Amino acid sequence: MVLDYTADELAVIRRAIAPPPPKPPEEVIEAMRPAAGMPVPEHMPPFWKLSDLAMPLFLRLSGDPVVKALSRYAFFPEVFDRLRAGQDIPKLEFSGRARGMVATLRFDDQAIVIKPLQSVGEDRIASISGEIGVGPRQLETLPGFLTEEFVAGTFFTELPEAQLTDVFLNGVGATLGAMIRRLHQADIYYNDVTFSDPKGRSHLLVDTDGSCRLIDFGVSVLLARHPDFRLDEVHNFVRTLPMYRVFRGMAEDQDHVDRFLIEYAKKMAAASKSEITSRDLIFAQEGLNLAAQRMGERIIEPVKEGFIRAYSA
Ligand SMILES: Nc1ncnc2c1ncn2[C@@H]1O[C@H](COP(=O)(O)OP(=O)(O)O)[C@@H](O)[C@H]1O
Ligand SMILES: [Mg+2]
Repeated sequence: MVLDYTADELAVIRRAIAPPPPKPPEEVIEAMRPAAGMPVPEHMPPFWKLSDLAMPLFLRLSGDPVVKALSRYAFFPEVFDRLRAGQDIPKLEFSGRARGMVATLRFDDQAIVIKPLQSVGEDRIASISGEIGVGPRQLETLPGFLTEEFVAGTFFTELPEAQLTDVFLNGVGATLGAMIRRLHQADIYYNDVTFSDPKGRSHLLVDTDGSCRLIDFGVSVLLARHPDFRLDEVHNFVRTLPMYRVFRGMAEDQDHVDRFLIEYAKKMAAASKSEITSRDLIFAQEGLNLAAQRMGERIIEPVKEGFIRAYSA
C-alpha cells in the first residue's frame, strides 16, 4: 500500500516536519549521507528531526519512493489522503518566495499550492480572503504552512496584447477595486503590490474570462485589533515602506529595530483604519503606472476608471 504508516507514525512524522524545523546542524547533514562523500538525499532534510527522535522511521522514509518524489509534501492532508485513495503522484514544481518555497502539486483533477507562512497572522487573513472570494480558497493544512487552491490565470502584467481592449481592462480594474473594497470591509489591509512591482511581477491573477484573484497575504495586516497592534503586525505594516528598508540597513541590532516598531505602533494607533487602508490605493496607482510602462500608457484610464468606480460604489 502507498504511504504505509500507522496513525501514530503519521503523527510523529507530521510533528517533525511542521512547523518547518530550522536547518539541520552540520553533523546531522553529514549523517544523512548514505556514505562519506556521497550527496545528501534531497528528499530527507525536512525530516531531520526524526533522525534523533525515531531513527527506524527516518530510515523507512528515506527508502520510500513516494517520499522520494514528494518529500514532506507527501504528508500534508490534501496530498496524503488523495494518494491513499489511489490517485497518482502529483507533479511537484517550485516557484520562488522571499522566505522558503512555494510548491505547486498538480493532480489530475486539481492543483494545490503549499507554502510556508510568512507572518504570524497570514493563515487567518488568507482564510478570510478565501471565504470572501478575493484570495485562493484555503484547504486543510499542517502548522506553519498554507495549503490552498492553485489559482489559474495570467499575471496582470503578462496579459496578451490582444486581450487588452478598453472593456476588458475596465472590467479587470473594477474587479480589483471591488476586491480591495471587500478586503477593507473585512478589516484586511493588503499592503502589497497588486498590479505590478518594478520588475513586472504581479499579485493579480486574471483568468481568460476576466475573473481575478489576489494571491499572497504574507505582509497583509488584520485591522481588527486597531488601535492596539501587535509588534508583528507593526512589522508587517512597515515592511513595505521604503524608509523602513533604509532604516533596517542602518539599524544597530534587534533591540534598535524593536524600539522603532514600538514607536511606530503609536503612529498606527493614531491613524484611522481608513488612513491605513488608503495605502492600498497608492499601491494600486503606483503598480498601474509601472504596468503601463510595459503594457502601454493607454491601459491606465480604463483600468483606473473601473477601479475607482467599484472601490467607491
Ligand atoms: N495560490 C496560488 N496559485 C497560483 N500560483 C501561486 C499561488 N501562490 C503562489 N503562487 C505562485 O508562486 C509565486 C510566489 O508566491 P507568493 O505567495 O507571491 O510568494 P513570494 O512573493 O513570497 O515569493 C507567485 O508569484 C505565483 O507564481
Ligand atoms: Mg509575493
